[in-house]
Amino acid sequence: MAKLTTTLGKGNTALRKTGEEFRTIWQKQDDPKVVQIIDQRKLPHEYVVHDLTKWQDGAFAISEMLVRGAPLIGATAAWSLYLAALEYGATENGTNAIKDVAATLGETRPTAVNLRWALDRVIRVLDAATIDSADISLADILEAEAKAICEEDVEISRGIGIHGLELIKEISRRKHGQPVNVLTHCNAGSLATINYGTATAPIYFAHAEGIAVHVWVDETRPRNQGSQLTAWELAENGVPHTLIVDNAGGHLMQHGMVDLVITGTDRTTRSGDVANKIGTYLKALAAHDNGIPFYVALPSTTIDWTIDDGLRDIPIEERNPDEVTTIYGRSGEDLCFVNTVASNTNISNFAFDVTPAKYVTGLITEKGICDASRNGLSTLFPDAAANAI
Ligand code: MRU
Repeated sequence: MAKLTTTLGKGNTALRKTGEEFRTIWQKQDDPKVVQIIDQRKLPHEYVVHDLTKWQDGAFAISEMLVRGAPLIGATAAWSLYLAALEYGATENGTNAIKDVAATLGETRPTAVNLRWALDRVIRVLDAATIDSADISLADILEAEAKAICEEDVEISRGIGIHGLELIKEISRRKHGQPVNVLTHCNAGSLATINYGTATAPIYFAHAEGIAVHVWVDETRPRNQGSQLTAWELAENGVPHTLIVDNAGGHLMQHGMVDLVITGTDRTTRSGDVANKIGTYLKALAAHDNGIPFYVALPSTTIDWTIDDGLRDIPIEERNPDEVTTIYGRSGEDLCFVNTVASNTNISNFAFDVTPAKYVTGLITEKGICDASRNGLSTLFPDAAANAI
């Protein structure tokens, strides 16, 4: 298999440390007490590295979507607890103060379950921590955990890429090497994870193997994760792609222009329902009507083993109406928000929707591909399934 490298942020020295792969979150080279991220609000117009120096910066970055995407939200929460440990770790009530911070971070975005997963994982480590030497601190312990979460996430994305590649290979064989047209929604790419992405990982692997692949990128209103992030990172990696408005997918599917849909997910129930960016459900319906495979790529960290029924039990985030009334972009030399709506218009801004498992052809995980069902997930993750409440 070809070696996979993603090359985002070309020329950005903060990310181009010798021999290191791209990352979406990292410690500042000359000051490890500062955590750095890419301010994703500014892409693709500007590549701005943003410093997190205290845990409140992490909470802001998550809620205002400087970082976004379920796995990166979880990782940012873990690094925010490290920042809290730097501040409170050596104080008398340090552990409780860090737990209070975890509770606040847990409120920042309700749908992506990776947030709770990462916070719970770090708190378990905190509870088990024994400081038996002056050479080790709570901050050291939480730093190690945040690093481990990031390293594991990269390996998980790699696993998803390896398994998802087989689907693309099979379609490529059937099409005698003609480009495989993959439609994706939102950004479940490198920028949403630590590297490689979930929905994009099979695409990057296919591209690295020399398989002709072309991606239809949904614009993804209101925050335009498709046009501003997915299109940017595919271009950075040389993957052929075409941007479309959100409502174009059904038309393309009716005319044989889509071979496969792959999206990400923010929360997957143990029975295989998936919550993803608003509009995903409509793509699944269109794919179902046109007999096009609709796959969801997910790290096991997005499985919520405590719930069955996504429509009933997954909290759907509602965000600020300003996201609907405005569009951010370039006007001449200026970067600005433009208002597109009359001021007396009522707005609703549901950020996610749930696609029931019956419309999902399969789930691409780091352990393999399975049916979107309790049985499918239990086969790949027997231990977690056995412990499910
Ligand atoms: O609101 P966002 O940008 O955080 O939503 C992101 C998505 O919906 C992604 O598809 C999902 O988090 C999967 S990321 C691998």
